[in-house]
Amino acid sequence: PKPNIAPTAPMGWNSWNKFACNVSEQLIRQQADAMASSGMKDAGFQYIVIDDCWQTSRDADGNILADPERFPSGIRALADYVHSKGLKFGLYSDAGSLTCAGRPGSAGHEFQDARQYAKWGVDYLKYDWCHTGPRNAEAAYTIMAKALRESGRDIVLSICEWGDHQPVHWAPPLGHLWRTTPDIGDLWDNKEPWPLGVVNILDRQAELWSYAAPNAWNDPDMLEVGNGGMTTTEYESHFSLWAMLAAPLIAGNDLSRMDADTLRILTNKDVIAVDQDPLGKPGRRMWKEGELEVWVRPLQGGEFAAVLFNRGKTPVDMKLSWDSLGLPAGQKAEVRDLWSKKLTKNVSGSYGSKVAPHGVVMVRVAPQR
Ligand code: GLA
Repeated sequence: PKPNIAPTAPMGWNSWNKFACNVSEQLIRQQADAMASSGMKDAGFQYIVIDDCWQTSRDADGNILADPERFPSGIRALADYVHSKGLKFGLYSDAGSLTCAGRPGSAGHEFQDARQYAKWGVDYLKYDWCHTGPRNAEAAYTIMAKALRESGRDIVLSICEWGDHQPVHWAPPLGHLWRTTPDIGDLWDNKEPWPLGVVNILDRQAELWSYAAPNAWNDPDMLEVGNGGMTTTEYESHFSLWAMLAAPLIAGNDLSRMDADTLRILTNKDVIAVDQDPLGKPGRRMWKEGELEVWVRPLQGGEFAAVLFNRGKTPVDMKLSWDSLGLPAGQKAEVRDLWSKKLTKNVSGSYGSKVAPHGVVMVRVAPQR
């Protein structure tokens, strides 16, 4: 069986959303330094993952080689550096002949690559699905999952098939997380088919809650918080909703240049505690009317997280009814607003709050004895 190394959804940073192919050992060291010193590590972020474009070719024996100009010290030295910061290290490959950016893929080299990753000290592999020709997705990911298991090192497998092959039906025994959609972009609502905005992704998650569990997470793609294309309110909504989904929290911004709002959002410990709740049950959309939605997530110990979400353009007074929590109307509860930090005791029946346009109110509800 796969190693028990993602009992809660992985948290980390990945180079793609901000830097795409512009990766180098300096960049990775700088991001590791920033994760360790900014408060991100203390908040639970752990993995530093190099996405596509670190690799250029294979040697005569088929061993995968890092770009010698961008990674002159080699991957082992870089992994050691990341580990010296108390962090974990990840790489990217692809089940096809080429990666999505046209670098060498792992098809036919799965066991050789997995052994190499283990030797380098890799803790996390994001394994993509470009240039795969007629390959069967389940079969292809089964091979890499086996190769990683036999590599001698515990390595998280992040399955990056985009959901077309219904990974919820075959990925759970193989990977610790699987993508459920095409790529996210740094935008709220895209009218174009690609990349998807936050609400476009959210709409594709509503029916997937029952498939996720510890070591088996739906992955609605990485975070765009701090990349500049959305408002602060929109980034708070993005982060809150991903926490409700029990999504991997993989930051995709430049950690070495974060403004105060970006750091405040990414290190909101109350929201992160919802994402990382040990019960491991994602939230569900319990109510939707026009542009208003209520999402509820059951937490360990009989508590709940809930999000009142306003997709519209004007502020709206919204209500979380005890009905949608499955609580009797007379039940008294403490309600804590996870962004404003306001605590209200002895609430019964429902909890109301004004919700900003494109905003959320996210609360934690603790029934009182
Ligand atoms: C695909 C993945 C992205 C990223 C790129 C790299 O588009 O979905 O997350 O890894 O490939 O080329």
